[in-house]
Amino acid sequence: MAAEYTGNLKHQLEILFDESLRLTVPDETGVEIKVAASQPGIPGDYQCNNAMSLWSIIKGKGTQFRGPPAVGQALLNNLPTSEMVESCSVAGPGFVNVVLSSNWMAKSIENMLIDGIDTWAPTLPVKRAVVDFSSPNIAKEMHVGHLRSTIIGDTLARMLEYSKVEVLRRNHVGDWGTQFGMLIEYLFEEFPDTDSVTETAIGDLQSFYKKSKRKFDDDPDFKEKAQKAVVRLQGGDPIYRKAWAKICEISRTEFATVYQRLRVELEEKGESFYNPYIPQVIEELNSKGLIEESEGARVIFLEGFKIPLMVVKSDGGFNYASTDLTALWYRLNEEKAEWIIYLTDVGQQPHFHMFFKAARKAGWLPDSDKTYPRVDHVGFGLVMGDDRKRFRTRAAADVVRLVDLLDEAKTRSKTALVERGKDKEWTPEELDQTAEAVGYGAVKYADLKNNRSTNYTFNFDQMLSDKGNTAVYLLYAHARICSIIRKSGKDIDELKKTGNVALDHPEERALGLHLLRFAETVEEACNNLLPNVLCQYLYDLSERFTTFYSIHQVNGSPEEASRLLLCEATAIVMRKCFHLLGITPVYKI
Ligand code: ARG
Repeated sequence: MAAEYTGNLKHQLEILFDESLRLTVPDETGVEIKVAASQPGIPGDYQCNNAMSLWSIIKGKGTQFRGPPAVGQALLNNLPTSEMVESCSVAGPGFVNVVLSSNWMAKSIENMLIDGIDTWAPTLPVKRAVVDFSSPNIAKEMHVGHLRSTIIGDTLARMLEYSKVEVLRRNHVGDWGTQFGMLIEYLFEEFPDTDSVTETAIGDLQSFYKKSKRKFDDDPDFKEKAQKAVVRLQGGDPIYRKAWAKICEISRTEFATVYQRLRVELEEKGESFYNPYIPQVIEELNSKGLIEESEGARVIFLEGFKIPLMVVKSDGGFNYASTDLTALWYRLNEEKAEWIIYLTDVGQQPHFHMFFKAARKAGWLPDSDKTYPRVDHVGFGLVMGDDRKRFRTRAAADVVRLVDLLDEAKTRSKTALVERGKDKEWTPEELDQTAEAVGYGAVKYADLKNNRSTNYTFNFDQMLSDKGNTAVYLLYAHARICSIIRKSGKDIDELKKTGNVALDHPEERALGLHLLRFAETVEEACNNLLPNVLCQYLYDLSERFTTFYSIHQVNGSPEEASRLLLCEATAIVMRKCFHLLGITPVYKI
């Protein structure tokens, strides 16, 4: 069987084993075939582990087979011949080990070099997804938690986009809370003429928030005014709406500087957007019998949760949950999203699990987790300082200003480049761009490489080190590969058309195999919403390359053409990984 590489080795082998399954046990074709990459030390590249479970299904049914190894052997014997498979063997309790054909692997890499890396993109079973990320609160601080949400959310969006999913990148900003009452009243006091208010006049919106909060807590008259202001705002009073819009506008400008630096694109649809739809959604839930009265409030009782989900407060106002239920309704029905992904710290997990459950109860979502339309709360841990406490600035201020953090990363990486004499070799623009790519890349990668659910320690020295699993190390590794290609003096685009890849040596083969695992890695990272899987892949790729390069000469060797193509393929896959992780690659070091 001619096998064109379709981007996912695992799936391709699963298709072959599925055919074998039909021949081996024609009555059990509903069994799901599982193929996995082999563990190191196993004589094969992939393994099919179905024999044991198949055996336990068929043993009581008068089967001809005498135990799992015989089932494994039959699966092997019935495997359709395919160009992609070199050989197979059965081991232990029926594991079928598959060795891929090196020629076929080489050919698949050649095809990618000509047709482009997009031909390796996974195909996911959804057309449109919402990624709800970053989502800071107006006038409150955009803290490192929001930075994590922004970085992880952007990567997930990029991975889905690469997999041909249309992604609605949603910034669900908190622009409709009760905090606006005090903010607006304070604004009126400080600036009787609202039109004249500018960003510079207010200065730092966070301290403005704090000052108004202090007044709210200390001054009962002000508190009362603020509470009335909320009602007037929500009732649509034009003067209050105008003041609200002004405050949002100033906040938005502040957020935009962070997004711009990080090159993250987001479309704001804040809490206020969903407000007009809330009553009809509550009514729908009510008509389905989900809503009950409890202590003056309206709530939904949910199995497995001690407290009910409040959807209308006792004063008749709406809250975070009513907004989120409505936003979910809107995304499913108006935006026709099939997968909705939310990024916040793990602390908010109960909130998400509760309203997801309410949505299932209302019949908006299927009962099981991974069926579509699907919702996922992607929770992440806290950012810690070196002192193992919640991350704070050195000045012991309350929060770390994100812009300062990014500035520092850039400055530090520039200093390191200057120490290495790059200011003499490069133009000031090159120095600046590289410092930025490395500095911001380091901040992003340090966050993404950990399993997101754990807390992580923010440490500039570690993230900016050029050794170990860091963005700096990886960016340099990529630049080094580019320089090998440059130094060859060969026209690589010409070579792609005329040259052939050969994977004759073990290190070349190991590198080639790892390259071909790119697609299944991205697919796994998407399905499990784990960017660290892609980071680990990227790090392993650079390790495979280093091993290959430390043993084999590239330029000037008889295998030069093939090896340059392998270098190029590695650089292309590395760049795609950087792109998916939101990191700008550098070409010179
Ligand atoms: N504004 C919230 C916060 O800062 C995060 C919003 C997350 N998205 C959502 N749909 N609830 O904590």
